[in-house]
Amino acid sequence: MSTTTEGLEGVIVGDSSICSVSEPNGGHLLYRGYAIEDLVHAASFEEIAYLLLYGELPSLNALKQYQHKLITERSLPDTLKKVLELTPGTTHPMDVLRTACSFLGALEPETSSNGAQNIADRLLACIPSMLLYWYHFHQHGKRISTESTEETIAGYFLDLLYQHTPPDDFRQTFNVSLILYAEHEFTASTFAARITTSTQSDFYSAIVSAIGTLRGPLHGGANEAAMKLIQQFKTPDEAEKKVKEMLAQKIKIMGFGHRVYKISDPRSALIKACSKQLSTQSKDGYLYAVSERIERVMWDEKKLFPNLDFYSATAYHFCGIPTFLFTPIFVLSRVTGWSAHILEQRAHNRLIRPESHYIGPGKRKFVPVEQRKG
Ligand code: ACO
Repeated sequence: MSTTTEGLEGVIVGDSSICSVSEPNGGHLLYRGYAIEDLVHAASFEEIAYLLLYGELPSLNALKQYQHKLITERSLPDTLKKVLELTPGTTHPMDVLRTACSFLGALEPETSSNGAQNIADRLLACIPSMLLYWYHFHQHGKRISTESTEETIAGYFLDLLYQHTPPDDFRQTFNVSLILYAEHEFTASTFAARITTSTQSDFYSAIVSAIGTLRGPLHGGANEAAMKLIQQFKTPDEAEKKVKEMLAQKIKIMGFGHRVYKISDPRSALIKACSKQLSTQSKDGYLYAVSERIERVMWDEKKLFPNLDFYSATAYHFCGIPTFLFTPIFVLSRVTGWSAHILEQRAHNRLIRPESHYIGPGKRKFVPVEQRKG
């Protein structure tokens, strides 16, 4: 009798040299051998993007050139702007990004002169432009300029969002968050990108598969769901009561638990520190205390710990970022990891095609439609 592994838990489906996730006594995360704890406050997100995409950290000169390239790749074709204007303002921004990336693939398809590495850089550079062009057009009736000489992607995103220069602490938090979201080995969305790649499909199709997979609340959508929960409470006591009730009803608390980590998510403490620091100057800084109480209840009741999404929610909120943009921010960071995996899959490709354990009816006789009962 064959057995199945529900959700592929614990199944190793391929070799990778991009990132390592392990859990001896708490979670550990390395990007190409570098611990995230060493990267978050010392590196810019562009350095990490370069590390993931090109395999090594850039020299100062290479970084300057890379940042310059990304700056020049931010502009959007007029037809794409039109599509963004025609996409309703009520659309979930994850659907906007899925559509916009797909449409860019029609305008700038993968060819021998527009290769994979180029497309990876182009998407990294222009996803913030797509998202925030659509956002300002529909929320504020404004056609914003996506041209900017701002060097960093963190600064560029916040600059476009606020339409003015962001405060330094917001920019630092956002940079940390982009680094933490950049890569996480064979997550569902990355695996979706690798499956699409394994059929020898094009780069954009793999990215679009990944965006669609990230959207769900069990994956990237958890940061938005966590914020909606946290915001319901005015006090930690209120949060404790409600979360206990939810657990009693077997309702999942978004932003907790993980498939691989079993004791802690190493990214959580890093973004939690940012959230704590920003809470001290935010008008609704009390939400940090609410979050901490939810964390305590989840540990006491279920031995579950916050994953990256939980404290990212309040960190973004304290930066004044609207909740419905949280998951798309995950895209603008993770496009680096996805792209690195697409390149890696292509370099050692074999079609990914698992098998199922059939549990349907046994072989039976076909009856023509006119002879069927009912
Ligand atoms: N809240 C309450 N209970 C939970 C939670 C949670 N967040 N997570 C797991 N559990 C419980 C389950 O109910 C289950 O309990 P049971 O055995 O009594 O039925 C047990 O823990 C195991 O949970 P599974 O869902 O089977 O664990 P799995 O490894 O399949 O799922 C996942 C991992 C999807 C992350 C899960 O913990 C979850 O749904 N968390 C909430 C969504 C979330 O935060 N996703 C973000 C993931 S990280 C990221 O994308 C950055």
